[in-house]
Amino acid sequence: MTSNEAGTHGAVLADPPPPGEAPLVELRGAGKSYGNIRALHGVDLAVHPAKVTCVLGDNGAGKSTLIKIVSGLHQHTEGEFLVDGQPVRFSTPREALDRGIATVYQDLATVPLMPVWRNFFLGSEMTKGPWPVRRLDIARMKATADRELRNMGIVLDDLEQPIGTLSGGQRQCVAIARAVYFGARVLILDEPTAALGVKQSGVVLKYVAAARDRGLGVIFITHNPHHAYMVGDHFSVLRLGTLELSAPRSEVGLEELTNHMAGGAELAALKHELAQVRGVDTGGLPGGDDLTAPAGD
Ligand SMILES: Nc1ncnc2c1ncn2[C@@H]1O[C@H](COP(=O)(O)OP(=O)(O)OP(=O)(O)O)[C@@H](O)[C@H]1O
Ligand SMILES: [Mg+2]
Repeated sequence: MTSNEAGTHGAVLADPPPPGEAPLVELRGAGKSYGNIRALHGVDLAVHPAKVTCVLGDNGAGKSTLIKIVSGLHQHTEGEFLVDGQPVRFSTPREALDRGIATVYQDLATVPLMPVWRNFFLGSEMTKGPWPVRRLDIARMKATADRELRNMGIVLDDLEQPIGTLSGGQRQCVAIARAVYFGARVLILDEPTAALGVKQSGVVLKYVAAARDRGLGVIFITHNPHHAYMVGDHFSVLRLGTLELSAPRSEVGLEELTNHMAGGAELAALKHELAQVRGVDTGGLPGGDDLTAPAGD
């Protein structure tokens, strides 16, 4: 893996291609079947530098299947998958990583009892000295992790503390900074805020924005239209494996997004049901009254 220090990706990050050039990652009519189960079908998606593409959808909508294709875990069974305009078919996540596509999974692959700096370099440790007396370059790893985290605006008191003692949000942030440092051009975040409270989610969203500002194309998977709308430039809503909505921020508002997410009609039905329950105030819920079907409501 190349680091930013080596400058391999520096030029790419500092100098994004002008509009109209090939997206970093693109899916055209892509789909995936697991045997008889068609998990994903006819999906178009484009990821551009310095933009956040949000992929929303309910449980089983196909979000994970989509990112598994892009991250090299699974192969698509229909349509096209392009990186920098070239059709690709990755056999392993390593191949995706080599093209600068990094994925931060929700169950982060960290070693809880190891210090933060050690986790930052896990699997890509810096070494010094010639073989066979090669050893870990601890001082350089600590200094680099410290600098990189600060560059992303992440300030931790002590990088010696076991990563397991950090909050879930902080761990996500370290993982994001790590991906940025190791030269990611495309960062995939699989529901990074799903298990977090409001404040912690805010912190993670801040670093999603920081990664975007560093020039990365971000694919942000979430259930939460509010989180998506805080950072998103483009919104793709999956429903039963197909794209229900694909729209730039300028063409979709938060309420419409929420409606799509919940499935407007279903949400309206739910609102109608909730309205029958004493003590539940449905007034502020999206899904307008016009949708609240039967008369007599
Ligand atoms: N390995 C697999 N084998 C068979 N079916 C699968 C496999 N992986 C996913 N599916 C099916 O594909 C569909 C989409 O699943 P996927 O995990 O992509 O949804 P998701 O949007 O990520 O859902 P969630 O929000 O619950 O994570 C589901 O119906 C699921 O049961
Ligand atoms: Mg999933």
